[in-house]
Amino acid sequence: MLNLPKPIRLLVPIAALVAMVVVISGCGTTNPDVARGRELFVAKCGTCHTLAQAGTSGTLGPNLDDAFAAAREAGGFDAATIEGIVEAQVDTPRPGNGNEMATMPPHLVEGTDLNDIAAYVGKYAGVPGAKPPEVAGGPGAQVFATNGCGSCHTFAAANSGGTTGPDLDEVLPGKSVPQIEEFIVNAKARNVPGYPKGVMPENFGEKIPPAELKQLAEFLAENAGKKSGGK
Ligand code: HEC
Ligand code: HEC
Repeated sequence: MLNLPKPIRLLVPIAALVAMVVVISGCGTTNPDVARGRELFVAKCGTCHTLAQAGTSGTLGPNLDDAFAAAREAGGFDAATIEGIVEAQVDTPRPGNGNEMATMPPHLVEGTDLNDIAAYVGKYAGVPGAKPPEVAGGPGAQVFATNGCGSCHTFAAANSGGTTGPDLDEVLPGKSVPQIEEFIVNAKARNVPGYPKGVMPENFGEKIPPAELKQLAEFLAENAGKKSGGK
């Protein structure tokens, strides 16, 4: 099913990809824009991949911090190696396990976009203590940003425009704080016709401490439908 990224499985494919990197890193990339790479990563990759510095929490694909942390620590992988692996995977994704929802589509990005994303991932994936920048809007807005809600959801007060999940300004007005907490941690409590189940991560109950979950739900309840993002 969707729980494919087992650490043991990841080691072998990475080794296989290193061979391709030698070829790819030959075509010199000039001055990639890492900040732009971050924005593109959140929008195009974060729906499936967790990466702490991006604040993304997708679970359909492997956690990219976990995928590269051990190799980076052992000193075998530097940023350029990781960059090459990312470019190879985006150009020619390894076949998934036959589950279309959990398969990485080929050529999601190309050219400069890919260079920027690869440079960004190379810089931050698996770096201990990497975390997203601080955002304005209070503690609940920070929890929203740190957990990548915006890579899948539009919410004006957080300036986010994700479209993988429903627009929270549309579905949340009138909902109470406890109801919203339940939506976040319990897939069975959610009911939005037209959106697939199994895409929203189901580990927020473990990942987000109760106090932060409450701050997040309060932020959502207070701002839903106000369309008052600081734009
Ligand atoms: C629809 C979901 C999806 C999207 C979107 C997606 N990926 Fe993936 N990605 C996957 C899956 C699933 C795998 C594991 C493939 C396999 O089974 O080996 C993967 C694997 C990877 C790997 C290899 C990790 C490892 O353990 O070796 C990298 C690197 C990667 N993706 C980067 C990206 C980047 C960069 C983007 C955005 C341009 C992206 N992915 C977008 C689903 C996705
Ligand atoms: C990888 C994409 C993704 C991420 C990340 C994600 N969601 Fe969702 N979310 C969805 C999808 C798809 C649905 C609709 C299907 C479902 O109910 O699971 C959804 C549904 C919801 C609903 C609607 C509940 C209802 O019945 O009206 C809420 C509220 C919600 N998400 C909040 C959040 C919050 C808060 C975060 C961050 C902590 C978050 N989501 C992160 C994809 C995502």
